[in-house]
Amino acid sequence: MRFENRIAIVTGAASGIGRATAQRLAAEGASVALVDWNEEGLSAVTHSLPDQSRIWHRALDIADEAAVEQCVADVLARFGRIDVLCNNAGISGGDYSPITETSTETWQKILGVNVMGAVHFTKYAARSMREQRRGAIVNTASVAGIRSGAGGNAYSASKAAIINLTMTSACDLGEWNVRVNAICPGLIETGMTAPVFERARAAQKEHKLGSRSELRRYGHPEEVAAAIAFLASDDASYVTGQALPVDGGNTASLNLPGMKV
Ligand SMILES: NC(=O)c1ccc[n+]([C@@H]2O[C@H](COP(=O)([O-])OP(=O)(O)OC[C@H]3O[C@@H](n4cnc5c(N)ncnc54)[C@H](O)[C@@H]3O)[C@@H](O)[C@H]2O)c1
Repeated sequence: MRFENRIAIVTGAASGIGRATAQRLAAEGASVALVDWNEEGLSAVTHSLPDQSRIWHRALDIADEAAVEQCVADVLARFGRIDVLCNNAGISGGDYSPITETSTETWQKILGVNVMGAVHFTKYAARSMREQRRGAIVNTASVAGIRSGAGGNAYSASKAAIINLTMTSACDLGEWNVRVNAICPGLIETGMTAPVFERARAAQKEHKLGSRSELRRYGHPEEVAAAIAFLASDDASYVTGQALPVDGGNTASLNLPGMKV
């Protein structure tokens, strides 16, 4: 019950890693504000959680700064404080074109959601964390922000930006006892990766999914949620400005084909 009497905002809470994070934080006692642009998904997750009096949700686009500012104000009005912010919502954009072909619209859309969404929530939530001299922010980056080959180029750049945003905001907020960390998931089965899983299963190649990771498998949203919960909790009270891969060892190894038999 590490989050008893704590208030958490989780973005992208209607699906995948965000849903598992909301479930984990709620199970450990948090009151949770669920944010997503998928209203139907939000309602379903809200109703799946215990103790409805501790759950609140808001459908919005995280790229819309005015909507985010209003949401943070409404969470503060409803719950009185914000202890934890999980900046998790994101899009892959589904565009794997080479740099010579990627459109400006694709870049703007992906950076607008993946980077600016986290910037907006951090800006407004951290103001109240600074006042209360306590808070923890966990950003969902990706192994795609560390290496090439795990997403399109705009997606990868957006996740590299999140890793650096994590460091710069940790440095801005450290003196107020507000910690900021990131997790970098590898391949996790969620809504975002559903097409990859569907294609592999249709071709009877499921065994190949995640097989390049050192644990030789893909990951589950709950395994990422556990890492997010650690970084959001007082167990990580002296950890800030870090980006933790949750990737089965993928980024620990070059895993060059042919080097291991
Ligand atoms: N699944 C993976 O393998 C993987 C790997 C590395 C990083 N990630 C990151 O994990 C995070 C969560 O993704 P997921 O894999 O759980 O995918 P998902 O599609 O299951 O969940 C993402 C959620 O974010 C919401 N969302 C997207 N854009 C939004 C916006 N503009 N405003 C509000 N809500 C929005 C979606 O509606 C969805 O509910 C993302 O930031 C993603 O980039 C995922």
